[in-house]
Amino acid sequence: MEMLSGQVIAITSGKGGVGKSTVSINLALALSRLNKKVGIIDLDIYGFSIPKMLSITSRPKTFNEKIIPVSSHGLTVMSTGFMVRENSPIVWRGPMLGKMIEHFIQDVLWGKMDYILLDMPPGTGDVALDMHHMIPQSKEIIVTTPHDAASHVAERAGTMAKQTNHEILGIIENMSYFSPPNREDEKYFLFGKGGGEKLAQKLETPLLAKLPMAIPNEDGEVSSIFEENTPLFEQYNLLAKKVDAMFAIV
Ligand SMILES: Nc1ncnc2c1ncn2[C@@H]1O[C@H](COP(=O)(O)OP(=O)(O)OP(=O)(O)O)[C@@H](O)[C@H]1O
Ligand SMILES: [Mg+2]
Repeated sequence: MEMLSGQVIAITSGKGGVGKSTVSINLALALSRLNKKVGIIDLDIYGFSIPKMLSITSRPKTFNEKIIPVSSHGLTVMSTGFMVRENSPIVWRGPMLGKMIEHFIQDVLWGKMDYILLDMPPGTGDVALDMHHMIPQSKEIIVTTPHDAASHVAERAGTMAKQTNHEILGIIENMSYFSPPNREDEKYFLFGKGGGEKLAQKLETPLLAKLPMAIPNEDGEVSSIFEENTPLFEQYNLLAKKVDAMFAIV
């Protein structure tokens, strides 16, 4: 199978809702602030969320039977969500999942990318297996929350990566703690402590970041993109530098 250019990094987790899509988007944006060309492939077949999180309303165009991915916020994006009408649910059969991944790799004009981040569905199901098989060069970042149960489940994703010889770049502990606005020295560990460290130890991989809770806006919503002058924006800049340094040619 034709190789994607650049480093492919799958953002995975055991449990759902721990922040994979949020990490995919904000790490991608932070890498592009380092002047890298970054693509995102949203492989969350049932729960695709990247188009909405990036407020994408356009669809990919085709050219000579190839697909031109959508550009948004400086990122190059493909999503399973582009393949369905409106917000209708998709009934996927096993082989279709693999076909979709193949399609995203072979039929999309990605151009030269430095990084392609894969926003994975939760768990270790068919999509993860197909991804491991079709993108053997893909590396992995595992997202967990500090809670013991979450990191325990995340361990399975890590074990699968190891069994299929995919390098784990490290762990991101998300929703690690809460700090009141403008009081970053004060930390409240709402979801417990130590899940990220424990998982990193078990999988013998670095803990790349402990990301705080985002402060919701006046409407009570947490935005999908962390803006400049927020603690999370700064944290993602540090994370991107760390990840990028892992690929620096020495
Ligand atoms: N650091 C954070 N602080 C506060 N809220 C967060 C943080 N990270 C993510 N969230 C929120 O948590 C929810 C789940 O995040 P997200 O959709 O990124 O998780 P996911 O792992 O991709 O979920 P799924 O398994 O359903 O794909 C979203 O509402 C998101 O805005
Ligand atoms: Mg998601």
